[in-house]
Amino acid sequence: MNDIELVVNEVMEKIKSADIVTLKILESKYLGKSSVLTKILKFLPQYSVENKKKIGAEANKAKNIIKNEINKKKEDLKKSLFNEKIQKEKLDCSQIFYFPFSKGSFHPVIETIETISSIFKTLGFSVDEGPEIENDWYNFEALNIPKNHPVRDTQDTFYLSDTKKLLRTHTSAGQIRIMEKRTPPIKVIIPGKVYRNETSDASHSSTFHQIEGLFVDENIVFIDLKVVLTEFVHIFFSDDLDVRFRPSYFQFTEPSAEVDIRCFFCKGKGCKVCKNLGWIEILGCGMVHPKVLGAVNYNFEKYRGYAFGLGIERITMLKYKIDDIRLLYENDLRFLRQF
Ligand code: PHE
Repeated sequence: MNDIELVVNEVMEKIKSADIVTLKILESKYLGKSSVLTKILKFLPQYSVENKKKIGAEANKAKNIIKNEINKKKEDLKKSLFNEKIQKEKLDCSQIFYFPFSKGSFHPVIETIETISSIFKTLGFSVDEGPEIENDWYNFEALNIPKNHPVRDTQDTFYLSDTKKLLRTHTSAGQIRIMEKRTPPIKVIIPGKVYRNETSDASHSSTFHQIEGLFVDENIVFIDLKVVLTEFVHIFFSDDLDVRFRPSYFQFTEPSAEVDIRCFFCKGKGCKVCKNLGWIEILGCGMVHPKVLGAVNYNFEKYRGYAFGLGIERITMLKYKIDDIRLLYENDLRFLRQF
């Protein structure tokens, strides 16, 4: 009986600090065939009936106690191993929101195209496009700019070397393409890239963007153009900005005008940005010339239209107070991250 108690105490102590491998060893050592307890049970027949009962019951009880304790310890170990593992492999989902890269944003030029397009969409225009590689007909001839006309010099055209093709110098070429394939009423804007062979400086670039507008229908008059463009300026810049239409000249519109906005840098007093004029020119426009309507075989007795063309970079620079157009193309992240 004493041995049994000793064994139990001994094993209980060892179980406390055991790991999984030690538990296995303890199991075979204290419960296995050659364990003290098994041996005691084996020698039972040698004892008196009374002792047999007592020792037998006690040895079996001891075996159960040890078995339970080992199983309990096994469970505890499993649990703590599992906890350790999930601690180590823990995935912090909130980390994703602190991803070390900042969220991208649109380039200011694209942003402006999107904003302008959505404004004109609310004014009833749809958005279309034309090719950047054009030919003489669409870029000049059909727009009432005949060959050898001096106005072509002002366009600084890039001609492609082996063909009669050129890079469009303005989105007005898109007007012709759209009128050619459709019949009025036509109410579209055409955003896109245009090219001019000029030296780049703070306000010029050989590649830039324009948005063309065209509305052709019966009974269109100049006041329609004035209302739409004034509305556009008020939505894009601000409600209280002064707008003026100044007579101008384009081959493909008659009458023609340029639209100026009151310089918001100097409030009209005169500064570097407005070249002391107090006004800043933002776009060209006019009533579509009958010759242009004729070039696409429209009945110019019946149809009239207005058109306008607006420089995206220029308007972007004004809106964000950017003083050098080249900043828009250098892709300097310190600049771009501000938008
Ligand atoms: N195409 C002209 C330009 O590039 C702008 C314009 C478009 C003027 C439509 C009148 C009508 O300067």
